[in-house]
Amino acid sequence: MVESSKIINHPLTFLMDLWKPIKYLKFLGGHSYKKMLDLNDELIDYVKMHIEEHRKTINFESEPRDYIDAFLIEQKKQNPKMEKYGEWSDLQLIGTLLDLFAAGTDTTSSTITMFIFNILHNQNIQKQIHEEIDSVLGKEKIITMSDQTKLPYFNACLQEIQRITTLLPLNLFHRTVENIEIDGYKIPKGTTIIPQFESVHKDENEFNGKIFVEKLIDS
Ligand code: HEM
Repeated sequence: MVESSKIINHPLTFLMDLWKPIKYLKFLGGHSYKKMLDLNDELIDYVKMHIEEHRKTINFESEPRDYIDAFLIEQKKQNPKMEKYGEWSDLQLIGTLLDLFAAGTDTTSSTITMFIFNILHNQNIQKQIHEEIDSVLGKEKIITMSDQTKLPYFNACLQEIQRITTLLPLNLFHRTVENIEIDGYKIPKGTTIIPQFESVHKDENEFNGKIFVEKLIDS
């Protein structure tokens, strides 16, 4: 995943998306593109191995142990003939698992890393987060997602890290499904667009530019 995301996030890869021939030119993106496909094959094999393991050990009568079990149980009802293509096919399960891996791994670990980097030099903020956790949950309880709403300061700091980090500077690609006009720019139906989080995250009207960021980092 790490190797693959290095290639996916490389500027050349974005160029490949804009102008596809680059990925066939060996001296440009060809080598990286092939490596990305090879890494993807490895991931597919890994995911397939887990699906097979689940198939061997699943009990269709009991509660699913995890996402793969849940899919296989539903697949049995929705696709009893095990059609190769379609919503409940194995291909779909592989695709969904790869999506979850790709979307959820690097994003989560990088957010945590950036959070640690940022509060490492902010003893004051660390102290306030710690105090909030101690006062709301005590010193013994392990935090779970259900505690999220009870920890507004901790949450605000996490969100602020996400804002100032802008983990996905170029975001995912989207496509317009109809003709639209934004700020006088006419965008035809079917155009690939890449929304820029930075323009929202660092909007000076909303966040007073860098000053706000520095306040969090330096206080
Ligand atoms: C802090 C961690 C995460 C960050 C910063 C993050 C960020 C993003 C961003 C920026 C998008 C694109 C939104 C857009 O289209 O405008 C996205 C989409 C997505 N994320 Fe995450 N994500 C995180 C965690 C996860 C996790 C843990 C999962 C799943 C296990 C996940 C699954 C997805 C999926 C499936 C999409 C595509 C949704 C769609 O088809 O529109 N993400 N994420």
